[in-house]
Amino acid sequence: MEPRKRDFIDIAEIETCYLRRLLELTGRLKSGELSGRPLEGRTLAMIFRKSSTRTRVSTEAGMTQLGGHAIMISDRDSQIGRGESVADTAKVLSRYVHAILIRTFGHDEVAQLAREASVPVINGLTDLLHPCQVMADLYTAVEEFGEDLSGLRIAWIGDGNNMANSWLNAAYKFGFRLRIACPEGYGPDPRILARARSGADVEVLRSPVEAATGAHVVTTDVWASMGQEDEQAVREVAFAGFRVDEDVMAQADPSGIFLHCLPAHRGEEVTADVIDGPRSRVFQEAENRLHVIKAILLDLVG
Ligand code: CP
Ligand code: NVA
Repeated sequence: MEPRKRDFIDIAEIETCYLRRLLELTGRLKSGELSGRPLEGRTLAMIFRKSSTRTRVSTEAGMTQLGGHAIMISDRDSQIGRGESVADTAKVLSRYVHAILIRTFGHDEVAQLAREASVPVINGLTDLLHPCQVMADLYTAVEEFGEDLSGLRIAWIGDGNNMANSWLNAAYKFGFRLRIACPEGYGPDPRILARARSGADVEVLRSPVEAATGAHVVTTDVWASMGQEDEQAVREVAFAGFRVDEDVMAQADPSGIFLHCLPAHRGEEVTADVIDGPRSRVFQEAENRLHVIKAILLDLVG
């Protein structure tokens, strides 16, 4: 029987030792210890049904650096954008390329693509999860605090969105303490929260200051994610007390850092003095997207 292909869709469903191996591989790629063109002759299709700067460019640049090639497919210029089914797209692309990365709205669409494709599928963000980003965030934490993530205290301030869900999955896998501060009605996915609670010290609070107390990492994200643009005004009211500012950062551990997946709205979810201040690691974090996706590509496509 052929071994089942590996996908990278949901870190909660991936063995922790494999995730650790990816983080270790990320370090070896970033340091230059691993180099060369191991993906020579290999092609990745990248389906983007939502906008992207970091995910698209880091993935395409990563494929180039590893000797391979990436093809961008958007709704505007492909048949999937005109209603061709995910199943047919998966079957056709599997005959041309060695892996598929997809960014889309519904998480089910990625799961379906992975079921129908015979090549590995990478989740480049859904409404539910953003696994490549949280791996880059974890790698940034490793650079700051060392390989053992289990003793970390992480504070998520703001929307219980795809990034909050991804941090919950990370807490579940690595066992660190996670405090989420979000307004009532804007919490994370209940199923993902319940699973994380079964494996880690996780609490949902209403106070950003309380959540940030003693934190090694304070992190946040936009108040309205892609697809929620119409809710911006309502969300600005709901999230008014959930901004990461100097008062919130003052509660963190003295070594505590600030992370944000970007893009950011200065003056909304984070003040400019925090995101542009000495404790911010957001550009190191953004750079790490490149090293992490190279590790994933090397493992899945190499
Ligand atoms: N953080 C992140 O995924 O950025 P992009 O939306 O620019 O890809
Ligand atoms: N939560 C944000 C993340 C962007 C990288 C969104 O989904 O729009």
